[in-house]
Amino acid sequence: MRKKLVAGNWKMNGSLAENAALLAAIKPALAGIEAAVCVPFPYLAQAQAALAGSSIAWGAQNLSDQAKGAYTGEVSASMLRDFACTYVIVGHSERRSLYGESDELVAKKYMAAQAAGLVPILCVGESLAEREAGVTEQVVARQLDAVIAAAGVASLANAVVAYEPVWAIGTGKTASPEQAQAVHAFIRGKVAALDPAVAAGLVIQYGGSVKASNAAELMTQPDIDGGLIGGASLVADEFIAICRAAAN
Ligand code: 13P
Repeated sequence: MRKKLVAGNWKMNGSLAENAALLAAIKPALAGIEAAVCVPFPYLAQAQAALAGSSIAWGAQNLSDQAKGAYTGEVSASMLRDFACTYVIVGHSERRSLYGESDELVAKKYMAAQAAGLVPILCVGESLAEREAGVTEQVVARQLDAVIAAAGVASLANAVVAYEPVWAIGTGKTASPEQAQAVHAFIRGKVAALDPAVAAGLVIQYGGSVKASNAAELMTQPDIDGGLIGGASLVADEFIAICRAAAN
């Protein structure tokens, strides 16, 4: 059976004091449950110190496609490895829409992450206009194809895919379990057409207004293998409940 993995995406939130309280609360509560938190770069050392030896992994929310050099303000994959990151989010819709990241750049970042031994959490998902225009599958396919063309389908054996419909992110509007399941099944089917074994093992997370109150109905869908959690990952009780719902 595939594992379930819930990851928190803290986005640009937190402080040393707030993080200390949050990490201290989730660590014992999630003992034995595989989970992850993707924190802002300055807090990687704090997450590492707090979570080392626990079942909770940590990671970042972005990385450079370049290995090193004159790229002011960028952070490389090997720097993330220096802080023992397991995961890095790539292609989050906020990176794509607010910072102009193209499918091609996302694919380069995905490859840079894997080359350094990080597991990329590759985000895909359609906007509201795209859903209403009936092109959800085309959009998700295009985003996936860019990575598969660059890195090969086998690379997905060392990656996580997160389906995050843009219209459900931070809006309180969750995709219904049926809507999410349909896209997850589409993603798995698309990968299966190229490599059935990779598809069978691929962890596909759902993200977009997941809360303790709706986690169970999402996590029990056959092709939903966990979640990528924004706002609710900042609230210890919410995040703990979501992780437990996925683990059950
Ligand atoms: P919310 O859970 O706040 O909707 O954010 C989802 C998300 O973007 C996680 O990456």
